[in-house]
Amino acid sequence: MSDVVTMDDLTNKEIVSILDDAERLVPVAKGDVPLPLLEGKVLANMFFENSTRTRMSFEAAMKRLGGSVLNFTSVGTSVAKGETLFDTMQMVDGYADVAAIRHPQQGAAQYSADAVGIPILNAGDGAGNHPTQTMLDLFTIREAHGTLEGLNVVLVGDLRYGRTVHSLSHALVRFGATLTLVSPESLRMPEEIVSDLREHGADVTETVNLDAALPDADVIYMTRIQKERFPDDDEYSKVAGIYMLDSSDMASAKNGMIVMHPLPRVSELHPSLDSTENARYFQQAFNGVPTRMALLCRCLGVKVPKKVK
Ligand code: CP
Repeated sequence: MSDVVTMDDLTNKEIVSILDDAERLVPVAKGDVPLPLLEGKVLANMFFENSTRTRMSFEAAMKRLGGSVLNFTSVGTSVAKGETLFDTMQMVDGYADVAAIRHPQQGAAQYSADAVGIPILNAGDGAGNHPTQTMLDLFTIREAHGTLEGLNVVLVGDLRYGRTVHSLSHALVRFGATLTLVSPESLRMPEEIVSDLREHGADVTETVNLDAALPDADVIYMTRIQKERFPDDDEYSKVAGIYMLDSSDMASAKNGMIVMHPLPRVSELHPSLDSTENARYFQQAFNGVPTRMALLCRCLGVKVPKKVK
């Protein structure tokens, strides 16, 4: 069994090994080199919540490696008739070799992993974790900076409900990052996560001021204020659009600073930023394909060759 539900399911050594595998798989992810490592294998893409990048990049990853995909959404399936998550996952256990699951409820991925025998990849569980996103984020950071060690990373926006930053902050701290957490008061990173980061020796600063944090950053990781996670619209309106970057903000950035975002964006990244050398969010989204290829291979016990050509 090799589930990936949180980043705690991977050691630092495994993380680096998966990133190395993903790097070699880039030509396969682009469709330039055929490599049917997962021929005959079936991925169940179990999406109980909306997704563009995660669902499509899992599908692209599996298909580029010669495997096939069963796509499940909560619309048009027996979820509408009241079928439980437990029962739904029993079907998947019989139909597929591995499953990626996205669910609005925190803990649903672990629940699924406990309910079935096939490996489960958490593709985002409510405000919980999003470890496969973290793997592609780490890939993107290493691609830009040549290392994961000792970087100054600024996480911005919805740090309360944002599962991407929950998983990413844990992983970055394990590689010695200094973290600056920029959010409005109401969307601060949950106290238990901040305490945990500090217990692991992390240098963590919390602030509401993005302008002050920008000049020292190696990475700015913007996130969307997630309207769908707010209990009411008034609370959302108070903080919507609070942080925005455009190309003129890059004048105060260090050489080589990159701007990342898990996407989708709303107003936090102005399109003028897209053509700057700092913008990495579309490359980041592509990186989901080789990274998820490497994760699928790991879960299915398939070795990625040392040379891919
Ligand atoms: N980054 C991310 O999780 O995007 P989707 O919600 O489109 O999958």
